[in-house]
Amino acid sequence: MRRVTVAGDKPYEVVIGPGATAELGTVLAGTARAVVVHAPPLAAVAGAAVETLQTAGVAAEALVVPDGEAAKTADVAAGLWEEFGRLRLTRSDAVVGIGGGAVTDLAGFVAATWTRGVRVVQVPTSVLGMVDAAVGGKTGINTRAGKNLVGSFHPPTAVLADTDVLAGLPDAEFRSGMAEVVKCGFIADAVVLDLLEADPSGRRDTEELMERAVRVKADAVAEDLYDVGRREFLNYGHTLGHAIERVEDFRWRHGEAVAVGLVFAAELGGQAGLLSRAEVDRHRSLLEAMGLPTRYAGDWAQLQSVMRVDKKARGSSLRFVVLDGLGNPTILTDPDQAWLDAAWAAVSSTHPATPASEEQP
Ligand code: GLY
Repeated sequence: MRRVTVAGDKPYEVVIGPGATAELGTVLAGTARAVVVHAPPLAAVAGAAVETLQTAGVAAEALVVPDGEAAKTADVAAGLWEEFGRLRLTRSDAVVGIGGGAVTDLAGFVAATWTRGVRVVQVPTSVLGMVDAAVGGKTGINTRAGKNLVGSFHPPTAVLADTDVLAGLPDAEFRSGMAEVVKCGFIADAVVLDLLEADPSGRRDTEELMERAVRVKADAVAEDLYDVGRREFLNYGHTLGHAIERVEDFRWRHGEAVAVGLVFAAELGGQAGLLSRAEVDRHRSLLEAMGLPTRYAGDWAQLQSVMRVDKKARGSSLRFVVLDGLGNPTILTDPDQAWLDAAWAAVSSTHPATPASEEQP
């Protein structure tokens, strides 16, 4: 089993490996009661978790919520609070969230708010959840005003990333999650890039890749839990990525939109003179080898106006994470319009970008 400690006021472990869910009994030993929140397709995993907890002497009950983003509503949260009341869940009890990012965000949010905070143990079941959503303590629900605008920072007691569940994950979902892994490679850990260049499927080295990505996230979160500084670097590729998701009404997978956003951010870094042509092209060639999209034909004016209201925007300025050399993220605020237009041309064009060999000195 691989273990990454996330430092902070209350340090916790991210456990990565086959059968990690079985550690629930140890993590919650001595807890009187736990509720296991899950979506319908994960009933078997939740059932096994309830059994593990009961064997460890914890009175556990499973509560079903809708699948995907439909879980992240005020109504679903209110329904869970009602159930917590019925079960007399107290501050010394715990919530377990089993599922993708939507369910772990919801479980974290209801745990953060019930009795002003009960422990939550996250059991993410997607690559995206394991390396990103379930780690770092961001919790939340969606409202008509936008995604994740209501939420809180509530770090988990533990994250159990059980790689056994990945076997059943469709390839497209697995690939989409890997976009967050490759992002970590570009911003902080070049070994991730080497491993993915050797096996772009990510299947050969999954656990090592996930451990490395979680370490990158853990380092950022330990220093900046409340997302006022270094944590923003995790947003590499996300400014355009989020805009594509919104324009596409969330029909694009998160990682697919981020993949295009990564190439855009790399091109922008190239325009700013911070990345060489070869470094920019490395983004495109690796993401393409991984089977992720690197081009997007959309309405540039619309995307720019959506980017200006990204929840990470400050005022109406446009902020991008770019790389000042691989592994060295920095923030570019209100870049030249000509750089933005050139970066957009490079991701929206149907023609290949200028190969490095044709680059003018
Ligand atoms: N997903 C980026 C963060 O947790 O800050």
